[in-house]
Parts: sequence; structure tokens; C-alpha cells
Amino acid sequence: MDNLVNTNYTWNELTSACNKCTRCALCRDRTNVVIGRGNPSADVMFVGEGPGKQEDLQGEPFVGAAGQLLNSALTALRFSQDSYYITNIVKCRPENNREPVAEEIGACIEWLRIQTRLVQPKVVVCLGNVALKTLIDKDMSISKERGNWYVKKGILFTSTYHPAALLRRSELKQDFWQDLEAVKAKMETLYE
Ligand code: URA
Ligand code: SF4
Repeated sequence: MDNLVNTNYTWNELTSACNKCTRCALCRDRTNVVIGRGNPSADVMFVGEGPGKQEDLQGEPFVGAAGQLLNSALTALRFSQDSYYITNIVKCRPENNREPVAEEIGACIEWLRIQTRLVQPKVVVCLGNVALKTLIDKDMSISKERGNWYVKKGILFTSTYHPAALLRRSELKQDFWQDLEAVKAKMETLYE
């Protein structure tokens, strides 16, 4: 991380710095930087991989097909729109929805660190392998680790399948649902 990033950013400063960011090559083909959406002081933060086509066009995370699937699951589980914050590991779209490479993740992760400092979530939910490997442990894989919980720096971390995986493999939906139900139950214990 170069020392040009001010880690005491406010939301406004973060937004304008992200929108101008050229820290990695993904800046070249983007339409919009996709920073995040939802409650900026939510107790739960969902972290995906990176913007897809719709997200790049609209500048909002999880607004395409995978996002709609996630939204309907969250609505069914009574996570209101303002009960969570949602973002991605990288803020600009990797072409053809390929996975971001280590260099891009390394360049972008400081934005997520700053977002986490601003949101101060109690629970972080990794959606898919890229978020799991980046935020929990690089040697883990989602099929083995999903649903497990860890504590890091006072924040609870868990993971489940990326909703795009469910579009290809609907047999994963049951586990995904169970993992989100566990997140909901965990959130409720925090308020007791
Ligand atoms: N997939 C992601 O990982 N993030 C989005 O915002 C959309 C699809
Ligand atoms: Fe900057 Fe992240 Fe976009 Fe790369 S992906 S240009 S680091 S905002």
C-alpha cells in the first residue's frame, strides 16, 4: 500500500477517492467504480467478489441476476434493505467476469479496510471463494468452509456460496439458505 491513502477518510472522502482510483489496471475499462450500498453503519456487511456487467453500468453492487437472487433470499429472511451494507473485494469490473488477480485484490483491499472501519460491522459475510480467501484464509475453500464462524479483530466472519454459483448449480441453494438463516440467528443473539 502506498502512503497516499489517508486511512482516516470520511465517507465523502472515500467516495471521491475511489471514484478517481487508478491503483490497478481494472480502472481502464470500467464505466463506474462500484463502492457499496446499504446502511453505512450496519451491523452486517456482505462482501462479494467484484462488479459484473450490470453493476459496472449502474454503479451499484449486486443489481444483476446474482444480486436479485441474493436480494430475494435476504427479503425472505427479513433482512431489511437498511439492515446491511454490501460491497465487493474489488470495486471495478474484471473483464468477462473473470476472478480478480492477486495484484488487483492487493491494490483494492485498502478501500475495503477503510469501509470496514467506517461501517464497524459486527458480522462480515464472505460471498464466495474470493472473499473467503481474501478475508478469512487463503487456503480455505467455500465448499468446505461455508457456514463456519471465525473471530478476527473483534468481528465475526462467516462465508457462504456466491449467489452467482446458485444460478449455475441450484442444488447449492439449500446450503446457502441455511447459512443466511444462521447469520440472521447470529444477528438476533447480538441484540439480546
Ligand atoms: N457479483 C459480485 O461478486 N458482486 C457484484 O456486485 C455482483 C455480482
Ligand atoms: Fe482502484 Fe480498486 Fe478500481 Fe483497482 S479495482 S482501480 S484498486 S478501485
